[in-house]
Amino acid sequence: MDDDPYGGGAGMVLRVDVVAAALDAAYGDGPDHRVVALTPQGRQLDQALVEELAGEEHLTLLSSRFEGFDERIVEHLASDAVSIGPYVLSGGELPAMVLLDAIARRLPGALAEGSGEHESFSAALDGGLEYPHYTRPAEYRGWNVPAVLLSGDHGQIDRWRHEQSRVRSVR
Ligand SMILES: C[S@@+](CC[C@H](N)C(=O)[O-])C[C@H]1O[C@@H](n2cnc3c(N)ncnc32)[C@H](O)[C@@H]1O
Repeated sequence: MDDDPYGGGAGMVLRVDVVAAALDAAYGDGPDHRVVALTPQGRQLDQALVEELAGEEHLTLLSSRFEGFDERIVEHLASDAVSIGPYVLSGGELPAMVLLDAIARRLPGALAEGSGEHESFSAALDGGLEYPHYTRPAEYRGWNVPAVLLSGDHGQIDRWRHEQSRVRSVR
């Protein structure tokens, strides 16, 4: 699967011929859809990219280990390079799972109707953060649920939530 880096140095590098053979075996002449290489050097994953990728009919995710991909994989076999954040993990398996989960919950039928619409970073919240949530008990150790949420006045509740969301988003 991997080999020593040309030019020397530590670590092993995932071979381009091996990845090309895997793609050929899976897709014949090559995939006719986006192939995402998970790499800390890629475009940083955000909700906009999740929405974009969730709109694709098919995706292939490539994960590496050790020193990473032979650069020709990223240049010639992948259509996208995606990072899940500015830190380095040991392998691309967890980044692939993160991307998979973020996309899967945006697919029709994955969540109850409407429950994914008002999440942090969603268009419904102008890309901002969601308002806080509370549940029973209404009082615990003197920590009270905001009275407006118990008022039953949905107009006031909407306004309070909108304001909370706005304040959190500009912090
Ligand atoms: C130890 S990392 C290689 C890091 C690489 N040598 C560098 O410095 O950019 C091994 C593999 O883990 C995956 N990986 C690690 N951190 C990642 C991140 N933040 N986002 C996406 N993939 C990551 C990638 O597939 C990467 O090739």
